Amino acid sequence: TRTYVVTGSASGIGATTAKTLRDRGDRVIGIDLKGAEIEADLSTHEGRIAAAAQATELADGVIDGVIACAGISAPIAKTISINYFGVAELLEALRPALAASDAPRAAVVSSMASLQPNSKEMVEAALSGDEAKTLEIAEAIVANGPEAGYAVYPSSKRAIARWVRREAVTEAWAGAGIALNAVAPGTVVTPMTAELLATEEGRAMVDAAVPMPLNSHQPAQSIADVLVWLTDTANTHMAGQVIYCDGGADATLRGDDI
Ligand code: NAI
Repeated sequence: TRTYVVTGSASGIGATTAKTLRDRGDRVIGIDLKGAEIEADLSTHEGRIAAAAQATELADGVIDGVIACAGISAPIAKTISINYFGVAELLEALRPALAASDAPRAAVVSSMASLQPNSKEMVEAALSGDEAKTLEIAEAIVANGPEAGYAVYPSSKRAIARWVRREAVTEAWAGAGIALNAVAPGTVVTPMTAELLATEEGRAMVDAAVPMPLNSHQPAQSIADVLVWLTDTANTHMAGQVIYCDGGADATLRGDDI
């Protein structure tokens, strides 16, 4: 039995991932705003530190896998706090417990949206670790209206993908034997996308931005299965990768441009 921490465990991809792990006999400590073993707000520094401390205590100091799914896609500044700092700072705080495992693994959820137009300035600020400055930049973008504010989401997903690629190969992660990777989904059918996918207009908009030639919109299970594999003992050499599990959206949009 392995012990996992799954954020966003109360809904969508996180809930499906937690169920998949439990069904195969693993122990899951869920973190979410409500309806989880640990109820915490990952948009704040205090929430992240408290959640990490509680998870470490519940796991008796040894965590085998961390899967970070919690996130929002609203055109508000807070999106970067949850989607970037709520992942990066939490993972840093959980790293000592991961390092205590014989086979530690971690995986986060980025998005194919990380390829959409985003703010380089915000991404760089996030990667520098300065949350106050990052929020200032996000607020300035959001002030230009909801359409401009949407860029906060792709920026948050670009930043977390770059964080994974940068950190995964360091002494702290690879050096401690911890495999760290990301999954970038296309359009997943979850409560996050339910409203958008409910109307023809919404579906047309989403499909224009995220073409999915292979099997169209995907179930949460398609992402959960990749997250579970990345954090399984079977993954011995994959590190710092951003895996596009997106029905072919990345290949369609970027083609040869990689
Ligand atoms: P969801 O809305 O069904 O689940 C997200 C969970 O995160 C919820 O349970 C929510 O309570 C939790 N959460 C939100 N803010 C939180 C906070 N401040 N503190 C603690 N927990 C918080 O969404 P879904 O679709 O399962 O998304 C999971 C991840 O996948 C997100 O990071 C999302 O950006 C990403 N993603 C989703 C896609 C989609 O099409 N649904 C596509 C690409 C990426």
